[in-house]
Amino acid sequence: MPDSWATSGLDLHLEAAGPGLRRGLTDALREAVRTGRLAPGTRLPSSRGLAADLGIARNTVADAYADLVAEGWLTARQGSGTRVATRAAAPPSRRPAPGGPPARREPARPAHDLRPGTPDLASFPRAEWLRAARRALAAAPHHALGYGDPRGRAELRTALAGYLSRARGVRADPGHVLVCGGFSHGLKILGAVLRARGVRTVAVESYGLDVHRDLLAAAGLRTEPLPFDALGTDPAALRNADAVLLTPAHQFPMGVPLHPDRRAAVVDWARRTGGVVLEDDYDGEFRYDRQPVGALQGLGPDHVVYLGTASKSLAPGLRLAWAVLPPGLAEEATAAKGSTDTCGTLDQLTLAEFLTSGGYDRHVRAVRMRYRRRRDALVTAVAARAPEVRVTGIAAGLHAVLRLPPGTERSVVQAAAWQGLALNGLAFFRHPAARTDPLDALVIGYATPPDHAWSGALEALCAVLP
Ligand SMILES: Cc1ncc(COP(=O)(O)O)c(C=O)c1O
Repeated sequence: MPDSWATSGLDLHLEAAGPGLRRGLTDALREAVRTGRLAPGTRLPSSRGLAADLGIARNTVADAYADLVAEGWLTARQGSGTRVATRAAAPPSRRPAPGGPPARREPARPAHDLRPGTPDLASFPRAEWLRAARRALAAAPHHALGYGDPRGRAELRTALAGYLSRARGVRADPGHVLVCGGFSHGLKILGAVLRARGVRTVAVESYGLDVHRDLLAAAGLRTEPLPFDALGTDPAALRNADAVLLTPAHQFPMGVPLHPDRRAAVVDWARRTGGVVLEDDYDGEFRYDRQPVGALQGLGPDHVVYLGTASKSLAPGLRLAWAVLPPGLAEEATAAKGSTDTCGTLDQLTLAEFLTSGGYDRHVRAVRMRYRRRRDALVTAVAARAPEVRVTGIAAGLHAVLRLPPGTERSVVQAAAWQGLALNGLAFFRHPAARTDPLDALVIGYATPPDHAWSGALEALCAVLP
């Protein structure tokens, strides 16, 4: 891609290199706004004009603009084009104070946020967490404040092994639990382990998170999308892969569980070939209408790495997650993590105390009921206001998939951005090489807003649905 463009009187150097063109362009534009190189109110070239300048597809530019509108860096109004948001202004002086850190500003927040991925942060159990932290610190021996075991504190690994076996059907030995700074950290470690073992290709789902695919790519692994149909991800094509990353209990983002025959097929494949299954159980606690679907790991603990996280059940800012490793991988993964790349001891001890005291179960039960009420309100409102839209993937999790009439996803996402409503279309999650027929849909994170903002966000959503 050329690295500069001159359009509409603007001359700007953009470094939009890297694996994802869209991401590269989005990052480059965001940085240009953030640092003030693109001044507030500046009108950006049309997506067609910029695409021609850069020699890339117009959709790539339109998607980058839509992402930045959703993040609040740009505004888009019919008739006046796409402009740098006035609230996204760089600070008056961009020169850092002598000796001080460079000035930074957070992006302006959208008026409503229904992007999936974050629980209602206002529901974090602050008082209970503080009480657990006080108890944990009072009971901790001095040596607990040292560097400690690279696998994580023994108290937490033991508490997790008990909880995961009771609540998720995981077969967990505390010695094989690895505490990580988020699922992403666990995936990074496992990517390095797999690559060192000679793995080249990891099968992934047709729909998923690009950050996870990027982490695997950064470890030198190729991702190969598996087909997706009404029964969930189809593992028939696994024969080409050495490992697979799956969300079996609740496919992200489509929201369906992996069909029981396919669960068995995945474990059979791993047993037959020695392949490794990475099970992302990101929101296994949240199932509303039936018993939770147990972890796949319970069917094949020697072949499945179970990965769970506190990012949905508590808060992503904790950066606490856990991997339960097959015995054959435990040592390599612990060595790859290393002894200094660990999570804060106090948070680990607090989570251990929160789990063993029953605080975690109480919190999950309470928020599950609130999320269920939101889900029901979403289903009712969409049925009443947009009968052509079908809400799917609602049995579990913190998000739903709204199936739109064919050909309407892009315009709905754009209309939402104009209204200050941040949301993701399904295309955002699609693997670039997916062969599954594309569907028009929105992925709505109904847990994201705090309670006071939920009804406004729902109203804004209904207003943009076809
Ligand atoms: C599919 C999926 N997996 C895992 C995670 C958790 O990631 P982390 O623990 O790194 O915050 C998320 C969070 O949004 C997710 O959507």
